[in-house]
Amino acid sequence: MTERLRDGALDFARQVFDDIYAFSQDPVIGVSRQGYGPIENKVHEYIKDWGRKLNLEEKVDRAGNLFLTLPGKNRDLPCYMTGSHGDSVPQGGHYDGLAGVVAGLTALWWMRHVHFQPERDVVLVVFRMEESSWFGKAYVGSLAMTGQLTPEDLALKHRNKDQTLAEAMREAGFDPKEILRKDPTIDLKHIAAFTELHIEQGPTLDSRSKERVGIVTGIRGNFRHKACKCIGVTAHSGAVNKEFRHDAVMAMGHLLVNMDKHWDEWLARGEDLVFTMGVFKTGVSSAIAIIPGEVTFSIDIRSLSRDTLIRFHKLLEAECAVIATDRGVKFEFDRLLVCEEASVDPALAAHLTKAAKIAGIPVMPIPSGAGHDSAVLANLGVPVTMIFVANQNGSHNPHEQMKLEDFMLGTEVLATAIMTYDQKE
Ligand code: GLV
Ligand code: MN
Ligand code: MN
Repeated sequence: MTERLRDGALDFARQVFDDIYAFSQDPVIGVSRQGYGPIENKVHEYIKDWGRKLNLEEKVDRAGNLFLTLPGKNRDLPCYMTGSHGDSVPQGGHYDGLAGVVAGLTALWWMRHVHFQPERDVVLVVFRMEESSWFGKAYVGSLAMTGQLTPEDLALKHRNKDQTLAEAMREAGFDPKEILRKDPTIDLKHIAAFTELHIEQGPTLDSRSKERVGIVTGIRGNFRHKACKCIGVTAHSGAVNKEFRHDAVMAMGHLLVNMDKHWDEWLARGEDLVFTMGVFKTGVSSAIAIIPGEVTFSIDIRSLSRDTLIRFHKLLEAECAVIATDRGVKFEFDRLLVCEEASVDPALAAHLTKAAKIAGIPVMPIPSGAGHDSAVLANLGVPVTMIFVANQNGSHNPHEQMKLEDFMLGTEVLATAIMTYDQKE
């Protein structure tokens, strides 16, 4: 792969990122591409257009996931699949998800450009709705592709509209009844390898001057609740002395301090664990002069270990029970949403490391803190690996950034891995 070709690929990728940015901007800040919303639809249409220009085969499954195929010499062989998601969190960054889509498209562009015909089909997938921020459910596109969504999932409500996920899917032109079918939309045995490129979303790679690209060692799972409640008693803030209060915000403060202490202890004894309560709303009547009688809150516990997730969730419930008794409040938990942790395929990860060596790109092993559609496929036995690219200002915020030079390094590892997959040792 020559320098000249690398430059051409960078221009191609820049154009795709810029074109999509132009129609993804949130009116206030960042980008907002809601899964099954009009902007995500536009992303799919835009990528389809490139598929036509590059003469790729196009398929949209019943859940709206897009597949673009560069046919291989032997069409009976299981394919090499790559891709990611086209949606974003509300007022998020441009690269979470989209980087993996553009990397796959750039790799296909590259193969067309050098007239490379792979041994087996190379497929770019653009998953629908990976982000849980809109309806509370993560990995919706890949779960639909693998026949794993439930009626309860489709009944989840939009974060700030009176619309269910099923209604959003219908509005985007897809039939929720069909989406609930239990047979996968594609034959999973027909995927020999799946590699998703993604920005790291954390600071590790960006702190390195040598390794700007990582090969993922495992993907954290999570236990989440979208909207739990702490219910106390709403009362006059001046007229009720401390011993008579059942203040829901104070109870939540107590809970947070205790859980933060436990978290430190668990980390100190070597457990992999992150814990977030990011949604925190007092009741509609809350005001300066009112003792808060209700708090709605979310829970997000993540770990590479299922056992840690189960135990920390139990500990949280136990803390709630104690605080409820101490403070005369009540905790109500909504449905537990589970994303399974996942392992990467060691042989495929070794192949990626070798591809990086061939391309002369330094890489380092790195775990994935964030969740990805890759986890869904890995847990169904598809050999999966991920490539991480350094990025700035984290992710799930409008200030997320990524340098195109770093993106091209990751994309070159991806393209090299695909193009050398069938080469003899
Ligand atoms: C995916 O965006 C996640 O929340 O990990
Ligand atoms: Mn995300
Ligand atoms: Mn993502």
